[in-house]
Amino acid sequence: MALLGSTGSIGRQALDVLDGDPAFRVVALAAGRNGTRLEEQAARHRPAVTVLGGSADALVELATRDDVDIVVVGTGGMVSLRPVLAALRAGKIVATANKETLVAGGHLVMPVARALAGVNAAADPAGPLASPLGWLRPIDSEHSALWQCLAGERVDRVARLILTASGGPFLDLPTESFAAITPERALRHPTWSMGAKITIDSATLANKGLEVIEARWLYDVGYEQIDVVIHPQSVVHSAVLFVDGSLKAQLGTPDMRLPIQYALTYPDRRPSRAAAPDLVAAAHLDFRAPDETRFPALRIAREAGPMGPWATAALIAADDVAVARFLDGSLDFTGIPRLLEAAVTRFGSHGGPDPDVDDLVALEAEIRGAFAGTTGSAGSVGA
Ligand SMILES: NC(=O)c1ccc[n+]([C@@H]2O[C@H](COP(=O)([O-])OP(=O)(O)OC[C@H]3O[C@@H](n4cnc5c(N)ncnc54)[C@H](OP(=O)(O)O)[C@@H]3O)[C@@H](O)[C@H]2O)c1
Repeated sequence: MALLGSTGSIGRQALDVLDGDPAFRVVALAAGRNGTRLEEQAARHRPAVTVLGGSADALVELATRDDVDIVVVGTGGMVSLRPVLAALRAGKIVATANKETLVAGGHLVMPVARALAGVNAAADPAGPLASPLGWLRPIDSEHSALWQCLAGERVDRVARLILTASGGPFLDLPTESFAAITPERALRHPTWSMGAKITIDSATLANKGLEVIEARWLYDVGYEQIDVVIHPQSVVHSAVLFVDGSLKAQLGTPDMRLPIQYALTYPDRRPSRAAAPDLVAAAHLDFRAPDETRFPALRIAREAGPMGPWATAALIAADDVAVARFLDGSLDFTGIPRLLEAAVTRFGSHGGPDPDVDDLVALEAEIRGAFAGTTGSAGSVGA
């Protein structure tokens, strides 16, 4: 296994999942800045190679090594898009938590995963690698849940995909108080322990909007078939409604080690370190519709999806800027969706062909320049 982003929340949990499992050998570890933790991980897992602060090219080299069978992607941002494409093209399995891979690059990576599946379907139509999901495996708990619900089912018998969302820490906070939300408060997620960026995205519901776009690519369904339901307990991780009215859901405790492990062992299952859910202890599970007026980031993402890859790439690049600015205090909580909307409006309607990787990298840089807040333009975003 090559693990990109080994020092982060997903990366550390991925190492925890395979620690001591003889079925896996860590061949390569890559991290951004945390050299101390990378050294500790290297001492324990003894990879052939480690890379700190590498460029996309350095990660491509790791991901396509001959001795790598599976690449686990736990980086945020666009840096892993090139390595993911290169790994798939080299016939490696990719298990990804990274959202840019699908939100910005779904139109690029899915055809490669589908082509790999096509080749394998000819040899073994019922085999795990006969499906694009055998090659591009989701780690996000919601997409893992959908994947598990879809196992053995026909995709053309799906009526709706239902993504659940915890609703974040401000689900019931009066909207008038949103502008005063501090990063400290937003970083306290009620049910999940995750990296800072995704925790803020959960508080704005931008995360759920990004997940709708990911689901559209992974499962090849229309946006109109994807619903979002608020479920504060985070026990039901997502569900699939079939044409006969049967609703299949996947339940588990909020522990990313379970979806990480499923992505590694698919189509098999193994005992896990994650605690099993206890329905009696849970006593009741609540569900309600999301309020897109209070949480406009979800609406903005839902509108960006059908606009196409320029819009979704603009959305996720802008979200990176917006969250960084919220965390550094230069944008308030209500400014996050305003910035997203401004970016999608300005960069989302592109007449030309869908963006390639170079276009996506250039777009990200352009959005960073436009909204980073140093030019004074971002302060008035949407005002
Ligand atoms: N955390 C979760 O539970 C969760 C759940 C679902 C989806 N996701 C998604 O998974 C991705 C990662 O999330 P996270 O919460 O794990 O983020 P995180 O804790 O911030 O970790 C990000 C990782 O990427 C590394 N990194 C940054 N630049 C790099 C580079 N150039 N080369 C190699 N590694 C680099 C970081 O290294 P340093 O720390 O050393 O700088 C860190 O290991 C995001 O897209 C997120 O939305 C996360």
